Amino acid sequence: MKMLKSMLFIPGDSEKKMIKGNGSNADALILDLEDSVASDRTALARDMVRDYLRSHADRGRQELWVRINPLSTDKALPDLAAIVAGAPDGIMLPKSGSAADVIALDHYLSALEQREGVAVGSIRILPVATETPGALFTLNSYQGASARLAALTWGAEDLAAAMGAASNRLENGEYEFTYLLARSLCLAAAHAAGVQAIDTVTTDFRNTDKLIAEVRASRRAGFTGKMAIHPDQVDPINRGYVPDEAEIAHARAVIHAMQNAPGTGTVQLNGQMIDKPHLVQAQRVLASAGLRE
Ligand code: COA
Ligand code: MG
Repeated sequence: MKMLKSMLFIPGDSEKKMIKGNGSNADALILDLEDSVASDRTALARDMVRDYLRSHADRGRQELWVRINPLSTDKALPDLAAIVAGAPDGIMLPKSGSAADVIALDHYLSALEQREGVAVGSIRILPVATETPGALFTLNSYQGASARLAALTWGAEDLAAAMGAASNRLENGEYEFTYLLARSLCLAAAHAAGVQAIDTVTTDFRNTDKLIAEVRASRRAGFTGKMAIHPDQVDPINRGYVPDEAEIAHARAVIHAMQNAPGTGTVQLNGQMIDKPHLVQAQRVLASAGLRE
């Protein structure tokens, strides 16, 4: 399955932004039917999203995902009934409560794929897994929940609203502990389930330096992609999830050191102990840069 580094949100009722998104290097667009669309434009957005999907059937360069409304609302099923005919690559499921929501969505998709002549099982699922307080206690449920599960991501805005928080930030601008916890749990849950961990949006989209620093930290932590809300964020995200030259050089040095010491599990490199986990990390760095050992 293709790794998605950058996923760009597009309000589902904005033709202009669809065109702009198509011209960007985003690995995927997320055509939104949820919070970025005003309620009185939901029906219009469903039609626009389906038409866009149908007229962009070649997804080789850019996948097309749809964020539907939460399953707890009466909008979710009409969203799905309208857009499955366009064969989206995947569905982003906001405010997912647990794997039970993914399993329900899996069943809805199977029925609708069958009805629409879309290959059954082809549409993948990306839950936003930390948007409700209760969801934080269910993150381990996603392991093995559905063959459609492609990734997990997290959100801090709706979670703060649901907690009655005045803000999800400390006075110094860093996330308050609860949101760092949500992020870490999402990261671990994604790796436990063997799917991609996708980092949440950076909302102050004019601050490119901050974005670059966040992406770097995100990749170092084990996320392999990130959502964007503005096209200017796409290229820094794409660049940021590829290791830089210093990291590649270090990875090569680790592998070299291990290869030069057959029969021993641990060696030293520049005064640091190196053993099996470091070798695994080094191999992953080269693989994520598309390089061979
Ligand atoms: N996708 C595609 N194009 C976008 C875009 C997006 N997410 N965000 C902005 N653009 C386009 C604008 O239409 C504008 O196009 P133009 O040059 O042809 O006029 C250009 O990029 C520059 O936009 P800019 O003026 O910098 O921002 P804005 O004020 O138009 O839009 C937002 C700011 C936040 C409203 C906009 O970025 C947006 O809608 N983001 C997505 C919101 C969303 O989907 N949220 C849900 C998930 S959290
Ligand atoms: Mg939201």
